[in-house]
Amino acid sequence: MAKTNKSIIVNGEHHEVSAESSEPLLWVLRDRLGLTGTKYGCGEGACGTCTVLIDGKAERSCLVAFEDLEARHAIVTIEGLVQDGELSPVQHAFVEHNAFACGYCTSGMIMQATDLLTINKTPSRSEIIEAMNDNLCRCATYPSIITAIESVVKENGSKSEDQS
Ligand code: FES
Ligand code: FES
Repeated sequence: MAKTNKSIIVNGEHHEVSAESSEPLLWVLRDRLGLTGTKYGCGEGACGTCTVLIDGKAERSCLVAFEDLEARHAIVTIEGLVQDGELSPVQHAFVEHNAFACGYCTSGMIMQATDLLTINKTPSRSEIIEAMNDNLCRCATYPSIITAIESVVKENGSKSEDQS
């Protein structure tokens, strides 16, 4: 099948990529850009392990075709959350609270939680559970994942109290 070329922005950097039109973003990231932090789980949008941010919104990269990407889109992967060598607050909380076992679902969980905490800095426990509900963890580390996210919520809450 013929390949097309286009420029995409991933983790703040422009990349010229050549790929088939129907190639999922997941494989563009992993195979063409070497960003293997984004994982393949089901390939059909059901597990959330492949979640990345597109223009700040959590999207399943296995369902986004290369042809649907536009140069204006800002794509962020788990690697792109690290700024100046520092883990993001959500990444840090997952480490702090051992919110993983095998770690296979972790990138997707962190990207999904990052989306949630961007929209709502202080979600309730039930809002967290609802937002994370469609990300699957085969190791069932859900309680630690919720605890990790709640720790960021607590931090956000005390920051907003400081500012008031
Ligand atoms: S690999 Fe994309 S949702 Fe499962
Ligand atoms: S930590 Fe193993 S799949 Fe979630």
